[in-house]
Amino acid sequence: MIITVDGPAGSGKTTTAREVAGRLGYRHLDSGALYRALTYALRDAGIPASDWAKLTPDDFSGLGFRATPSGGVVALYLGDTLLGDELRTPEVTRDVPAVAKLRAVRTWLLDIQRDLGSQGSLVADGRDMGSVVFPDADLKVFLVAGLEERARRRLLQDTGVDPSEAEVVGEAARIRARDATDSGRELSPLLRPEGAFEIDTTELDFEDQVQAILKRVINLTG
Ligand code: CDP
Repeated sequence: MIITVDGPAGSGKTTTAREVAGRLGYRHLDSGALYRALTYALRDAGIPASDWAKLTPDDFSGLGFRATPSGGVVALYLGDTLLGDELRTPEVTRDVPAVAKLRAVRTWLLDIQRDLGSQGSLVADGRDMGSVVFPDADLKVFLVAGLEERARRRLLQDTGVDPSEAEVVGEAARIRARDATDSGRELSPLLRPEGAFEIDTTELDFEDQVQAILKRVINLTG
């Protein structure tokens, strides 16, 4: 069983997909973390951004990055280091769309993601899970939410405190810029996949959006 959850930045894809996967006993794949991990690895290796477009899949393989199924999650390693918080620094967040738009990157990560999908039931979240990576998924979800609400949630998630209006305005501008790059790129742009059902989470609480997906899964599996 493959369930895909796509949507723009801060729409709640990752937290929702993780929770749905946990309740169903499926594995969660946060595909954004793969793009972030590669971005982190390139920065860590000291390869300047101006050279990224010249790199090949072999170059990426040489960085020492691995994605390994581990219980309910996919563990990401660079060498022996398990990657975590370093994937969500402002620098990685800023640079990841430039990495994610490269053909060699998407080709390389496509195999890795499909391989993970062949190793058991998966809830996969990202930008092109339902459109490109798993076009035959059993269930496709597209999450949306208002820009300001997404900015507010993202800041709350990162800092743990309610943000000020000025902070929300700044974060909304950063999110809007990232959405524009992700939606406007030539390869695998962010879009609502064919056959996906859309959930607008602006006014929904977390449990309601999880239930909306679980209900569909129960309809499918009987
Ligand atoms: O959590 P958030 O929505 O902020 O971002 P993310 O899911 O961690 O994804 C980070 C970046 O990776 C996105 O802005 C895209 O540039 C890229 N990405 C992608 O191109 N395709 C995916 N399937 C997932 C992420």
